[in-house]
Amino acid sequence: MSAHPPPATPGIRRPAHPLPVRIMHWVGAAAVMCMMLSGWAIYNASPSLPFTFPRSLTLGGWLAGGIAWHISVMWVLFADGIAYLLYGAASGHFRRNLRPPGPRAVIRDLTATLTGRLGHRLGHYNAVQRLLYVGVIAAICLAVATGLAIWKPVQLGWLCGLFGGYPLARHIHLAAMIAIALFLVVHVTMVAIFPRTLVAMVAGIPAEPEENAR
Ligand code: HEM
Repeated sequence: MSAHPPPATPGIRRPAHPLPVRIMHWVGAAAVMCMMLSGWAIYNASPSLPFTFPRSLTLGGWLAGGIAWHISVMWVLFADGIAYLLYGAASGHFRRNLRPPGPRAVIRDLTATLTGRLGHRLGHYNAVQRLLYVGVIAAICLAVATGLAIWKPVQLGWLCGLFGGYPLARHIHLAAMIAIALFLVVHVTMVAIFPRTLVAMVAGIPAEPEENAR
């Protein structure tokens, strides 16, 4: 069975990003941003590392405001994430486009990226992208799971215990946030280098065939 089946109607190319993926990507991106900025407001009230975040970069303004944003938007992220995971698994999107790459493919594409030789074909992810996307999806799942554990450490004691108790779960939550923030820096830089990918993620233009690789 081919990994990339031919389009159902000859001459009509599939969109680079199906509509459900585009909607869920932007809802998820907005939710992650709100979670991060409100999380920084909560962190500032009781920092566990020797720094705080500038108040101008926080959402909610103060501890209770930050918590209100964090708990409200959590449900948006939760619903969007479940919908994305179900759609990705059921539609074959994960199997076709986000299959975790092998180390050789990652080294090949990373070398090509760092030496400016990697092209981009709309609707196709290279090995480095796939690794980053799978990594950030895992980091978001970890952030949600550890967040639930430190939100309800008594009611969800089994979950908190799974992460080694409250203090460790809190540190893992922070580490997942840092991983997501680092992903964002690389992700937005790559989008700035290939701005037409942004058009495709917003407007849904067709995927490019092999010969158009740049
Ligand atoms: C906050 C967090 C964000 C997360 C977690 C995130 C995550 C992802 C993921 C997982 C994908 C692959 C989606 C799929 O095909 O299933 C993706 C694609 C993409 N994202 Fe984001 N994203 C975020 C923010 C942004 C922002 C701010 C921008 C724009 C500046 C952006 C632009 C894009 C574009 C253009 C693609 C498609 C790339 C391509 O065609 O090669 N993302 N993102």
